[in-house]
Amino acid sequence: MLSLLLSAVLAVQAMAVLELNVPEQPVVALHSSDVVLSCSFNHTNPFNLSDLSVFWQLTDTQRSVHRYLEGHDQLADQAERFANRTRLFPNQLGLGNASLLLSRVVVADEGSYTCFVRVQDFGSAALLLQVAAPYSKPVVTLEPQSNLRPGDEVALTCVSYGGYPEGDVIWQDAGGRNLTENITTSVVANGEGLFTVTSVLTVVLEPNSTYSCRLINPILGEEGYISVTVTGQNIAFPPVALWVTVGLAICLLVLLIALAAVCRRKIKESCEEAKREAEEAKVLEEEEESKTGVRTRWGGEDESGG
Ligand SMILES: *[C@@H]1O[C@H](CO)[C@@H](O)[C@H](O)[C@H]1NC(C)=O
Ligand SMILES: *[C@@H]1O[C@H](CO)[C@@H](O)[C@H](O)[C@H]1NC(C)=O
Ligand SMILES: *[C@@H]1O[C@H](CO)[C@@H](O)[C@H](O)[C@H]1NC(C)=O
Ligand SMILES: *[C@@H]1O[C@H](CO)[C@@H](O)[C@H](O)[C@H]1NC(C)=O
Ligand SMILES: *[C@@H]1O[C@H](CO)[C@@H](O)[C@H](O)[C@H]1NC(C)=O
Ligand SMILES: *[C@@H]1O[C@H](CO)[C@@H](O)[C@H](O)[C@H]1NC(C)=O
Ligand SMILES: *[C@@H]1O[C@H](CO)[C@@H](O)[C@H](O)[C@H]1NC(C)=O
Repeated sequence: MLSLLLSAVLAVQAMAVLELNVPEQPVVALHSSDVVLSCSFNHTNPFNLSDLSVFWQLTDTQRSVHRYLEGHDQLADQAERFANRTRLFPNQLGLGNASLLLSRVVVADEGSYTCFVRVQDFGSAALLLQVAAPYSKPVVTLEPQSNLRPGDEVALTCVSYGGYPEGDVIWQDAGGRNLTENITTSVVANGEGLFTVTSVLTVVLEPNSTYSCRLINPILGEEGYISVTVTGQNIAFPPVALWVTVGLAICLLVLLIALAAVCRRKIKESCEEAKREAEEAKVLEEEEESKTGVRTRWGGEDESGG
């Protein structure tokens, strides 16, 4: 095995090295779109295509992605998931262009690809394919949704889906300051490897506060932005309504107290009047009685008592 490897290495070294040009930066491909994996070589002398070999393979597993040998594609040993999705550019091969077209890119395609080219001389180079998918515009929901009062604790949930790679969620207040406390973010992949990002911000509600959720895709940059302002519309008892209510209540209370006071005075007055009338009546009665001589009887009693 070692000797085989050694002889292979020696064989490669024995050949003049063919220099290949591949992108140094990762090639970014959008999910489900097509991408060209670029690989070109300088071969000054014109050559016969039947003398050209082009192998594209996965760098890590060495599984075959596409092979071209003796003037034809050789796809018998092609990894199944690349079936019907790869092709070279035949009229470019003679010009030193061994680029590969990969169609309908999926998340699983991400990784390193090695391009091998031999035209008498042999060369190889690897490039990195990075898959990206844009996230949906984030949507923010409020929980609970109704009967909110200032001081209540509410959960703002920001959801965005269908993106790749993992996105970062940044919550900011009206002044653009990052909110860092009480944020829980979870990322879940679907069957295609695309992510749904859910971020929950828990805040103590203040009227007129603005919270914004930004979604940052590390490859595509900022993708989505949504801001919610919690105003009287969301709050059942915003301060204005509250003060109006309190004011009305106080007015009503004052009115009631005033009414009660007036009533009390009226009752007192009528009572006093009744009392006075009663007393007057008594005095009158006494006067009447003294005239009729009852007084002497009372006086007689006084005498017997003393
Ligand atoms: C290929 O040829 C072009 C033009 O002659 C030259 O600019 C370039 O550096 C060459 N690349 C390599 C890898 O030799
Ligand atoms: C290319 O090679 C094939 C087979 O070796 C040969 O039949 C053909 O004539 C060659 N073509 C050219 C243009 O040299
Ligand atoms: C590739 O295309 C051929 C012909 O159109 C078809 O028979 C075959 O099922 C396809 N393979 C895959 C994996 O789609
Ligand atoms: C190779 O051919 C493809 C398809 O025509 C093209 O997109 C690419 O730019 C070519 N690369 C070079 C280095 O000419
Ligand atoms: C908020 O966080 C983002 C990402 O971490 C950063 O780029 C930005 O500068 C921060 N903004 C402030 C105002 O701290
Ligand atoms: C975070 O949550 C805790 C408990 O729910 C609360 O006491 C605290 O004020 C919150 N912090 C911020 C910055 O909202
Ligand atoms: C809420 O903000 C709006 C717009 O900035 C302003 O017109 C309104 O007076 C504010 N209300 C309160 C209760 O602060």
